[in-house]
Amino acid sequence: MTDVTVNIRDDGPLLVQGPCVLKDQAGNTVKESDNMVALCRCGLSNTKPMCDGSHTDNFDGTLNPPD
Ligand code: FES
Repeated sequence: MTDVTVNIRDDGPLLVQGPCVLKDQAGNTVKESDNMVALCRCGLSNTKPMCDGSHTDNFDGTLNPPD
């Protein structure tokens, strides 16, 4: 089994840590990574679905899991 962790960053991207393949709706590979991919969560990136750092000082996205 492959270990993959999705880390939700306060005011930032989703960090997919571990080997992964990112595919579009048609099944085409968008990105392959052996270690980490940062997915935009703010909607401001010019390189969606990847984070390009545009969230910095422009996104308030803290998630608090339900109790
Ligand atoms: S989360 Fe980084 S640009 Fe959107």
